[in-house]
Amino acid sequence: MLKKIEFETILPIWRDHLWPGRKSQIEPVSAINSEGLINVTIQGYKPHFFGIYENHELIGVNSCHRTSLKEMRSRGLWVHPQHRHRGVGSRLLLQVFAQAKEDKASRIWTMARQSSAEFYLRLGFSAYKETSQYEFGPHVFCEHLVT
Ligand SMILES: CC(C)(COP(=O)(O)OP(=O)(O)OC[C@H]1O[C@@H](n2cnc3c(N)ncnc32)[C@H](O)[C@@H]1OP(=O)(O)O)[C@@H](O)C(=O)NCCC(=O)NCCS
Repeated sequence: MLKKIEFETILPIWRDHLWPGRKSQIEPVSAINSEGLINVTIQGYKPHFFGIYENHELIGVNSCHRTSLKEMRSRGLWVHPQHRHRGVGSRLLLQVFAQAKEDKASRIWTMARQSSAEFYLRLGFSAYKETSQYEFGPHVFCEHLVT
């Protein structure tokens, strides 16, 4: 079952599983814009956190927040290794499309790790930029229009 969750619920998953040993503090909203630059005004936007539960266990999470009036970032997607390749990640990404429509954003973007970029490309995203500027290796910026 997909539910809206709180930052306090997603934080331990992000800290222990998605970003173990991360040096920078994990904030509810990231200040990175869709070009990979820091813009602290982004932190004024409201974040949304999503989780998928199976038998009361949280098996996948994602979040989104605007980075400008028309742009929505999908951030922090993670699926428990034992539950991968069953469509859980896709469902969590589709939830961001629903939220983007509700918030009238016209473009979704994400900063994908190189190891997961293919996942986004298979779901119709296009890669538009690469960076090695942030922790956890090279990242690929991927985008998708909201129709
Ligand atoms: C990337 C991730 C979220 C995918 O979750 P998932 O629930 O397995 O995704 P889905 O089952 O919806 O996958 C849909 C399709 O995407 C593709 N896909 C999924 N993970 C992939 C990967 N790592 N590499 C390439 N293609 C992938 C497959 O085509 C898959 O269909 P298939 O299972 O029939 O082959 C998951 O592997 C994960 O949590 N990885 C570690 C954290 C991470 O990298 N998160 C993204 C941060 S940017």
